[in-house]
Amino acid sequence: MSKITAAITAVGGFVPDYVLSNLELEKMVDTTNDWIISRTGIKERRILKGEGLGTSDLAAPAVLDLCKKRGIDPSEIELIICATTTPDFVFPATANIICDKIGAKNAFSYDVQAACSGFIFSLVTGSKFIESGQYKKVVVVGADKMSSIVDYSDRATCVIFGDGAGAVLLEPNSDGLGIRDSILRSDGSGRIHLHQKAGGSVKPPTHKSIDAKEHYVYQEGQQVFKFAVLKMADVSAEIMEKNNLKGEDIAWLVPHQANKRIIDATAKRMNVGEDKVMLNIEKYGNTTNGTIPLCLWDYESRLNKGDNLIIAAFGGGFTWGSIWLKWAY
Ligand SMILES: CC(C)(COP(=O)(O)OP(=O)(O)OC[C@H]1O[C@@H](n2cnc3c(N)ncnc32)[C@H](O)[C@@H]1OP(=O)(O)O)[C@@H](O)C(=O)NCCC(=O)NCCS
Repeated sequence: MSKITAAITAVGGFVPDYVLSNLELEKMVDTTNDWIISRTGIKERRILKGEGLGTSDLAAPAVLDLCKKRGIDPSEIELIICATTTPDFVFPATANIICDKIGAKNAFSYDVQAACSGFIFSLVTGSKFIESGQYKKVVVVGADKMSSIVDYSDRATCVIFGDGAGAVLLEPNSDGLGIRDSILRSDGSGRIHLHQKAGGSVKPPTHKSIDAKEHYVYQEGQQVFKFAVLKMADVSAEIMEKNNLKGEDIAWLVPHQANKRIIDATAKRMNVGEDKVMLNIEKYGNTTNGTIPLCLWDYESRLNKGDNLIIAAFGGGFTWGSIWLKWAY
């Protein structure tokens, strides 16, 4: 009997309407359009506006989009894994709320927190439920409302992040299509360079912590940049070597979109041409767990059955990893 693999059979996405351009940021903090474009590659990002709206309001429409495209009812989904760093609440899990909002009455659901690597960690986790043979329809959604934890008076972080969500459906495949291999890593000693100082159990929220702006993203940009370039390129090269893949075998590199310069360094190391690199950083910025599925959403019409994709991510923790998959449709 041939081995069951987990194939992506549909992609959905959602970005909010509000466009926060570099030109608008120029009026908010001491920055310039030229600086942002040359140092990050970002021109604009989307922001979810509106009282009482959270990450589940980005994720739910992304999952519904996927259901519509695949022609399934949400009640057919058996499991929803939500990768997010900006959950609606500390508890319950945002995935539980998504299920309720879309009517996924027969699914169990939970969140995965691995900062910007959350989507790839979740994709690998979800694939194991399919490979076991026990489940046939697993949704992995990456969603973040980064604007809820970004300080819009800090020019070093507010220019980078945006809001958005992307989702994929995993189903069993017996032709060797889908997820073929993965390498996932984490090193918690890197947490000092990228974290949120308060709001968790170590430092529950107080008036003092809020006044000190400790509920926002704290990032040592240069340190994170150095690790990201090294680790994302290393792990992408490693998965290719492990599977005897050369640059010319790769149809698409799907990198986490944190900084265009990090993406360029990864592609160079893999010997993959610029025309084979999925990019959406220019229009969405870093949507954290949204970047990779939103890339697949944007480029879906250019993908062909059997294409070799390398997905690579790096994030806070530190966390990082790569996936080799064969596109299934
Ligand atoms: C954040 C980041 C864009 C900053 O770019 P950089 O080239 O490293 O810039 P630096 O931090 O070295 O700062 C250089 C100068 O630009 C300034 N600067 C920072 N942000 C700026 C902005 N938005 N506009 C203008 N100047 C800015 C700094 O204050 C510094 O000025 P100084 O030399 O007078 O002190 C970059 O470090 C980065 O992308 N890091 C990785 C981020 C990442 O991957 N995060 C998520 C992981 S998932």
